[in-house]
Amino acid sequence: MTETMENRSSENGLVGQSIARIDGPLKVTGRATYAYEHAVNGAAYGYILGAAIAKGRIVEIDSRKAEQAPGVLHVMTHRNAPAQPEFGPAVTPTVPEVFSRARPMLNSDRVRFHDEPVALVLAETFEAARAAAALIDVRYEEERGAFDLPARLADAYAPRRTNAGFETDSAVGDFDRAFAAASVTVDATYRTPYEHHNPMEPHATLAVWSGDEVTVYTSAQTLANFQAGLASTLSIPREHVRTVSPFIGGGFGSKLIVHADTVLAALAARVLRRPVKVALTRQQMFANAGHRAEMVQRVRLGAERDGRLTSIGHVVWSATSGFEEFCEQTAVFGRSLYAAPNRLTRHQLVPVDLNRGEWMRSPGEAPGMLAFESAMDELAEKLGLDPIELRIRNEPTADPEQGVPFSTRNLVACMQEGARRFGWERRNPAPGRIREDRKLIGYGMAAAIRPNYIGAGTARVAIDANGRVTAQLDMTDIGTGTYTILAQIAAESLGVPVAAVKVELGDSRFPRTAGSGGSWGAASAGSALHHACNALRERIMAASRTSDRSPLRGANDVAPSFADGKVRVGNRSVSLTDLIARIAPDGIAATGSVAAARDTESYRAYSQHSYGAHFAEVAVDGDTGEIRMRRMLSVIGAGRILNARTARSQILGGMTWGIGAALMEEAVLDPRSGHFVNHDLAEYHVPVNGDVAEMEVVFLEEFDDKANPLGAKGLGELGVCGSGAAIANAVYNATGVRVREFPITLDRLL
Ligand code: MOS
Repeated sequence: MTETMENRSSENGLVGQSIARIDGPLKVTGRATYAYEHAVNGAAYGYILGAAIAKGRIVEIDSRKAEQAPGVLHVMTHRNAPAQPEFGPAVTPTVPEVFSRARPMLNSDRVRFHDEPVALVLAETFEAARAAAALIDVRYEEERGAFDLPARLADAYAPRRTNAGFETDSAVGDFDRAFAAASVTVDATYRTPYEHHNPMEPHATLAVWSGDEVTVYTSAQTLANFQAGLASTLSIPREHVRTVSPFIGGGFGSKLIVHADTVLAALAARVLRRPVKVALTRQQMFANAGHRAEMVQRVRLGAERDGRLTSIGHVVWSATSGFEEFCEQTAVFGRSLYAAPNRLTRHQLVPVDLNRGEWMRSPGEAPGMLAFESAMDELAEKLGLDPIELRIRNEPTADPEQGVPFSTRNLVACMQEGARRFGWERRNPAPGRIREDRKLIGYGMAAAIRPNYIGAGTARVAIDANGRVTAQLDMTDIGTGTYTILAQIAAESLGVPVAAVKVELGDSRFPRTAGSGGSWGAASAGSALHHACNALRERIMAASRTSDRSPLRGANDVAPSFADGKVRVGNRSVSLTDLIARIAPDGIAATGSVAAARDTESYRAYSQHSYGAHFAEVAVDGDTGEIRMRRMLSVIGAGRILNARTARSQILGGMTWGIGAALMEEAVLDPRSGHFVNHDLAEYHVPVNGDVAEMEVVFLEEFDDKANPLGAKGLGELGVCGSGAAIANAVYNATGVRVREFPITLDRLL
C-alpha cells in the first residue's frame, strides 16, 4: 500500500497550478505582521551607533549627554555590555559553525569594520534613541586598513573550503599543457564589484524575555540558524530561544544568520527587563548585514578550431573579512557545465578590513557566470561560431568532474527553445551592424546552471473533524510563495481544496527545516510535507480499516484514493470530513522528514543541477553609450514546477538581478576609510520598473525523479545565474566593445 501512496503525487493536479499567493491578501492589506511591527506592551527602542573608522580602537566613549537626554533609558557600550563568549567556535554541534557561532556585540574596544556597532542607545521611542545617539562622543585610535583587492592579489591565501563545503580547487588532466597547445584561446580577466542585498524589510528584531527564555520576533530566512547563533551568543541552551518569523520582506541571503539587531535586542531586553526593538537602518545594512565581495576572475578557455574545448581554467580571487572568512563558490559551477578533458578551478582569498561577506542571491554562480559566460561569448566570436552552437558542441554526456550521470539536464533544449522563441536568427554575429536611428541593437545569450540542494527537515500535518488541514513547519516564506506551494502540496495529497489547508510557518516551535536559502526551500520543505501527508493518509487508512465507526472498515486490499474531499476504496466512497469525524473526533496528525541531499545515495550517484538559457536584447545609444534593456527571455529546466506563477516570479526577479549585476549594481568602497560611500538605495543603483525589459519566462516540462519525491529542483536563484552575462554579451554584440569590469556603466563602455 505504501508504494501506491508514494507514487500518487498528482491526483487532482493542484501542484503546478498558477495559484495566487494565499498570503497575498494579508500582505496587501497590512495584516501580515513583520518583525518590527509585533505589538507588545512596554517595548523600549534601541538605536545603534556605528563606528566612524574601519580599523582601530575606541580610546574613549562618553555617553553622559546621551544618558541625560529625554526618554533615554540606558546606553550600552563595550564598557557595560553583558559578558558574551568570544566570537568563536559554535556551541551547537548539529548546526554548522558559521550559522551557530557566537556573534558578540559591543564586547571589545576593537573596531574591525566601518559602522560596526559601538553603542546601543535605549529609549522610550525610536526618535529619542536616535537623537541621543548623536550626543555620544567617541575618540578612536585609527589604524591603517587594507581595502584594495586588485593591488593585493599577491597576499591571497587558499581557504580550506568554499561556501557550501566545496573543495577550493579542482584539477583534471593537464590544464597548462592543453591550454598552451590549444588552437584558439581566450585568456580574459574580469572584475566584479562589491554588491549589497537590501531586502525591502530591513533587519529588525523584537526581543521579549520570560524568565530565562527569550522570544525573538525577527526577520529570518532560517530559524534554526538564528536560534543556534543567538543561543551561542547569550550562552543559553538553544531550547531557551524561540524565534518567530511568520512574514519576511525579502532575504536574498542576508537573513541566514543573526546580525546586530537580534543580538543587541536580546541583550538589551535582558538588561532593561522589558521588551526591546532594534532595527538596522537602511544605511547600516550596508556594513552590518553582509555583502557580496569584490572579485577578480581569470578565465582561460582553449579550443580546437571546431569549437571543442580542450581546456577550461577559472581562477578566482575574492576579498574577504580578516576576522571571518567567506569564500563564494564562484568557479564551482564550471565543474559541471561543459565538457573538456583538461580543467582547473581555484579560489583564493585576500583579507580586507571589512565585515564578513555573506550569501548573496546565487552565491558563486552570480559573479562566476557573469565572467565565465562572457568568456564563452569571446571564444565563440574568435571561432566564428554561434554561441549556442559552441555550447552544444561542448555538451557533456556525464558530469565532467564528478563522472556521474546527470539526473535531468535539458540545457541544450533550453537554448534551442529559447533561440526559436527569441528570434535568435535575427542576430547579426558581427557586432555593431544592427542600427535603429542612433541606437545600436545587440543580442546576447548565456547558459544557466545551479546545483540542486535538499536540506534536512521535518513537517507536521494534521486534519481535524471539520476537515481542516493544518501544516506546521519552521520553514519561512521570504516572499517566494512558500505558504502557497505547501498548501498546494498538502491539498493535492489529501484531496481537499487549497482553502481547506492552513499553513503555519516561521516559528521555531514547529518542526525544524532548513528554511529558505540556496534555492532549496521549496523542494526541501515540500518533500518533508509530502512525506508527512503520505504518513497522515496511512494513519487515516489504518484507523478506517479497524474502527467500528468507519464506513471503510475491513477495506484492506485496494489502494485508497483521496480526491474531491472523498476517500475511495474500491467502489466504497466516503467524505473525508465524515470519515475523520467518525474515526478520530479529535483529529489525526503525522510527521514526515527529508534527509539532506548530501546524505543520500541519489545525490552521490547523480549530478543534480537546474539549468536554463537566458536571452537578452539591448539598445545602446551610439552617441551617449546609454544602454537600455529591450527584451529578455529565460527558458528554464528545473524539474517539476510547483506553482507556475510563483516560479515565474522567482525567475523574473532573478533576471532583474542579472540586469543589476550587468549594468548597475556597485557598492563603492572608499579606499581611505573602508566605507561604502553609496550606502543607500538612492546611490546604490538597482533596476527599477523603467529599467527592466519586456520579460518572458518559459518552463520546460520536466520531472526529476532523482532529486526528491516531488520531482522539483531549486529555481529561486537560477534566474540570476548567467542572465547578467547574456546582457553583457548583448552589449558587446551591439557595440563591439567588451567590458570586463562590471557593472557596464557608460564610462566603461565609451
Ligand atoms: Mo540564498 S543567497 O542562500 O538566501
